[in-house]
Amino acid sequence: MNRILILFLASLGIAAAQDDAKAKLMEAGQKAFPTCMACHGQDGKGLPIGDKKMAPSLAGSKIANGKPEILAAVILKGIAKETQDYMGIMAPLEAAFASDEQLAGIMTYIRNSFGNEASVVTPEEAKAFRTQWAEQKQPMTRAKIEELEK
Ligand code: HEC
Repeated sequence: MNRILILFLASLGIAAAQDDAKAKLMEAGQKAFPTCMACHGQDGKGLPIGDKKMAPSLAGSKIANGKPEILAAVILKGIAKETQDYMGIMAPLEAAFASDEQLAGIMTYIRNSFGNEASVVTPEEAKAFRTQWAEQKQPMTRAKIEELEK
């Protein structure tokens, strides 16, 4: 076999392995998503309650689709309730996502559902984010999130 063909077949193999890893993360994320549904809704658009919503839409959300370190912080530490815009509260979910596979799964899932198309988050990355935020004891604030988005 010539080298080009071998390289081509090898790259197909790598692509298949990556697809497989993504599929596994998406499956783990889908299983964990009911934890978020009570507020963000089954369709991720935010559960309506009267003329308000329990929580913002994850579809097209800058936080969901943006820098994964910020999304990880929001899930692990929650968001301080500073306004009455939403009926719910984004509580810290560190305890529910104690495994790196689960954290990577939920992040990958919401970044690739509801029309979102953002990068996969691997368990290795999830672990690094957990370490990055280990010292943060307070929930995130909108001001801090905006600062980090710059
Ligand atoms: C008990 C209700 C509740 C649950 C459960 C919940 N959230 Fe939230 N979430 C909120 C509320 C309320 C906000 C808005 C917080 C604010 O700005 O005051 C929010 C904000 C967010 C945001 C920021 C969205 C944006 O663009 O502003 C993300 C991302 C998010 N939640 C992800 C999740 C994920 C993932 C889960 C499940 C693992 C989850 N949430 C579970 C209530 C909830």
